[in-house]
Amino acid sequence: MFHLTLLVLLCCATSISAGTIKKPSASHSGEYGGNGGLRFSHSVDQLDGPITALGIRTNASYITGLLVRYGRKWSDYVGGPSGELQTIMLNPGESITQVSGKFDSYICKLKFQTNLGRRFSFGVDVGTSFTAIPLFPGAILTYISGRSGAVIDAIGFHWNVEFGGGARH
Ligand SMILES: *[C@@H]1O[C@H](CO)[C@@H](O)[C@H](O)[C@H]1NC(C)=O
Repeated sequence: MFHLTLLVLLCCATSISAGTIKKPSASHSGEYGGNGGLRFSHSVDQLDGPITALGIRTNASYITGLLVRYGRKWSDYVGGPSGELQTIMLNPGESITQVSGKFDSYICKLKFQTNLGRRFSFGVDVGTSFTAIPLFPGAILTYISGRSGAVIDAIGFHWNVEFGGGARH
């Protein structure tokens, strides 16, 4: 009985510290890749809104750079200058629900899938595969983090239920 009470207290303390009492919905996948580069995180960018576009730079070997648009605002660019930058725009109501890819010491390939059934693939088929999906039903990709230098060394994916407050398009 004591143990049960303690568990209930712990559980409620966690919910209250998160602002509102609700079911857990956040999870993360990764980080995938190597240890080089400097750490980056879009945890603050996510406050600008849900992900509405992606810019991914690739050369013949690696994912060399990226930026993400949250609501109407682009994140800082991370990565290097090698290769070509491609941009994809999500449609209204479209969210990323799965990311797969390949890595060795760097990120070689990224493939994004959306809730509207679209897939966007970048990079080359080399290295170890990963598949990143949210733990909780209905959660979507809300921000990314990782390590970058001349390339994207590593990447992690953060999932949650959609924010109510963010501007979309
Ligand atoms: C891709 O970019 C990285 C980082 O600049 C570089 O080391 C690598 O040689 C490039 N690969 C090709 C095929 O250009």
